[in-house]
Amino acid sequence: MSEEASPHRTAAVIPAAGRGVRLGPGAPKALRALGGTPMLIHAVRAMAASRAVSLVVVVAPPDGAPGVKNLLDDHALPERTDYLVVPGGETRQESVRLGVEALPDDITAVLVHDAARPLVPVETVDAVVEAVHEGAPAVVPALPLADTVKQVEPREKGEPEPVVATPERALLRAVQTPQGFDRATLQRAHRTMPGVGEGATDCAGMVERLGAPVVIVPGHEEAFKVTRPLDLVLAEAVLARRRANDGF
Ligand code: C5P
Repeated sequence: MSEEASPHRTAAVIPAAGRGVRLGPGAPKALRALGGTPMLIHAVRAMAASRAVSLVVVVAPPDGAPGVKNLLDDHALPERTDYLVVPGGETRQESVRLGVEALPDDITAVLVHDAARPLVPVETVDAVVEAVHEGAPAVVPALPLADTVKQVEPREKGEPEPVVATPERALLRAVQTPQGFDRATLQRAHRTMPGVGEGATDCAGMVERLGAPVVIVPGHEEAFKVTRPLDLVLAEAVLARRRANDGF
């Protein structure tokens, strides 16, 4: 993507302060190795692969910023991109807010990308950036669902949960990251929404509550979130396939 004539400066914020307990015991999720390289480094490279992204802000665990800074210093990253590490918060929403607040004034467009989606292809990143640069206040990559989804009335663990509704599958999308935003819109969302409970698991949801339009662009099956142990197996297989195809 040519940025010569673009009035936009785009940064990516990567919340990587989560403990990732669902993956099981071991290192914090973002630091788990995939193909010998920490997941976070894959995620940073995936954002920096877009020529539109001039700055990547990594939001580290509150007490882990120096370690994450060392990790970035130890890995080869594209020269044209700047990197910044800031300490995160208790929830994803809080971590994203802290990352956005650390952005320099001249940044006009922001991608928010989960460290837990290390393998998103550059084509997906570019599609999100392009839609934001063309004027969408909020852009989300998403895919149709394979599974039918039920809404339930949650019960104690082990107790059968009553089903209350079955939303029409054709109208549903599973959303991924990077989600892209006009900076002012994202900041307004974060300043307006209180970070209660778990906080927002999705920045676009906060923008929707502001009443601003959110649009979908096609997501990618390789942008899946590494959440459970089986996802690590899948991620290794995707990397192996890429290596075989790229011949390195
Ligand atoms: O837990 P979940 O998979 O939803 O986390 C999504 C992303 O948010 C991960 O990249 C995780 O590191 C990040 N996160 C964070 N700060 C928290 C909790 C999660 O940056 N307090």
